[in-house]
Amino acid sequence: MDIAATPEWAALSEHHAAVAGLHLRDLFDADPERAAALTTTGADLVLDWSKNRVTRDTLPLLTALARAAGLPGRTDAMFAGEHINTSEDRAVLHTALRAPRATALAVDGQDVIDDVHAVLDRMGEFTDSVRSGAWTGHTGERIRAVVNIGIGGSDLGPVMAYEALRAYARRDIELRFVSNIDPTDVAEATRDLDPATTLFVVSSKTFTTLETLTNARVARAWLLAGLGDDADVAKHFVAVSTNAPEATAFGIDEANMFGFWDWVGGRYSLDSAIGLSLMIAIGKEQFAEFLAGMHAMDRHFRDTPLEQNLPVIAGLLNVWYVNFFGTETHAVLPYSQYLHRLPAYLQQLTMESNGKSVRGDGTPVTTATGEIFWGEPGTNGQHAFYQLIHQGTRLIPADFIGFASPNHEYPVDDETDMHDLFMSNLFAQSSALAFGKTAEEIAAEGTPAELVPHKVMPGNRPSSTILARKLTPSVLGQLIAFYEHVTFVEGTIWGIDSFDQWGVELGKVMAKQLGPTLTEPSPDLSGLDSSTAALVGRYREWRGR
Ligand code: F6P
Repeated sequence: MDIAATPEWAALSEHHAAVAGLHLRDLFDADPERAAALTTTGADLVLDWSKNRVTRDTLPLLTALARAAGLPGRTDAMFAGEHINTSEDRAVLHTALRAPRATALAVDGQDVIDDVHAVLDRMGEFTDSVRSGAWTGHTGERIRAVVNIGIGGSDLGPVMAYEALRAYARRDIELRFVSNIDPTDVAEATRDLDPATTLFVVSSKTFTTLETLTNARVARAWLLAGLGDDADVAKHFVAVSTNAPEATAFGIDEANMFGFWDWVGGRYSLDSAIGLSLMIAIGKEQFAEFLAGMHAMDRHFRDTPLEQNLPVIAGLLNVWYVNFFGTETHAVLPYSQYLHRLPAYLQQLTMESNGKSVRGDGTPVTTATGEIFWGEPGTNGQHAFYQLIHQGTRLIPADFIGFASPNHEYPVDDETDMHDLFMSNLFAQSSALAFGKTAEEIAAEGTPAELVPHKVMPGNRPSSTILARKLTPSVLGQLIAFYEHVTFVEGTIWGIDSFDQWGVELGKVMAKQLGPTLTEPSPDLSGLDSSTAALVGRYREWRGR
């Protein structure tokens, strides 16, 4: 189906023509109930989407489009384990990873919930033994540092969630993350660690990823150099993978492997065994709360009518901007320093999922797809790039994310609380973006005429605000599941397979082919394009080869 050829799409185009010229100032003035009407709650999250370039007619038109695209049926198919990842012929069942033990779900003849909980139980036992000190390294000392080695979904989720939940983590076990094949990453992560008290978690869905296997080999050499060649490596290395034979080939004991399944995409895998390092940091009980939060958002998404459904509303708004306003990027602005890796995590989730140019059946898309997600925590971003969002020529929809209660209380003086100061910035920024400041208002303040145009704040810059009471493991789980489903909603409208990532393969193959040209004594560079051949030549010269 060509979504852009549907009557629902045409209706939205027509609606856009009517709405595009309206200013949020006027929309709010004309409708005193607007904020209440365009605020929706799901699980513990409140989504205020009233500061978006919409009228009360917009959402019904967008949900009609969602129905035309078959969103409800596709959602059911995903939760039921149908093979909606068509290009890889796989089920897409990250939602099963957080389903309660009592849930029944057979996929391809196998009870997946039993499998999920069997692995969670083993992770829990292992976590307890590391946290209690029962698990010891080669010299009999307890583990003081856990280093997760992985990349992409095997890194971004764990590191983002660990950073987000530091307030809930054990501080006497340090977590570090090594992802890049740049040797500096592993060097810096290990330089001040004691091999006797360090545990490596090698996380790789495929266990064939060059970066991860290389870093794991270097880590093993570092361990042996520190502990001696007869060191019991099994006490310092565990693996998280769907590929047990490759992990065995690497030398990891099967007893120290934690599996998952091909129906978990890498960027959707934080809640699988890929979350082992996080579980060690926060404990199995709080990890269970994190999973329960994800499940609460799953239920909200699966069971709530489209018009009151948080991920549906947010996903459709993104489609509204990308396809009708022609926006290209989307800012994520968490007012929580703990969420400083959330934008990077969302970049993989959204851009690896929806950066596609063909539809499920292989035919070219007829609409723009994907958005460039980016961002930084507030208030840091305010002093860096907000200028462009406020006064630049581009329209950049933004998500503000904030929490009522801080994880740390700091009264600044008798009247001022630090968290209040922080949050006042969030509310001020979203308001300034929406309503701006007119030339008349600026002139009325006595601003010299020649400065007025520079100070005009056009406003009408859209944003949504996601508010929760506090950043807890459960709320983080809800936020992640929210964005997973937002991504799914957008992909469904665009008719693409949001669960494959063929586009990353070519570069991997070429890096493998190119490798020898950097090291061989007299490589044949004739197969390379002239630019790459020249770069390789210069690199070799500078490396003294
Ligand atoms: O870059 C592609 C990719 O396959 C991602 O989708 C994935 O998260 C990452 O590589 C790491 O893969 P693996 O977990 O198999 O090492």
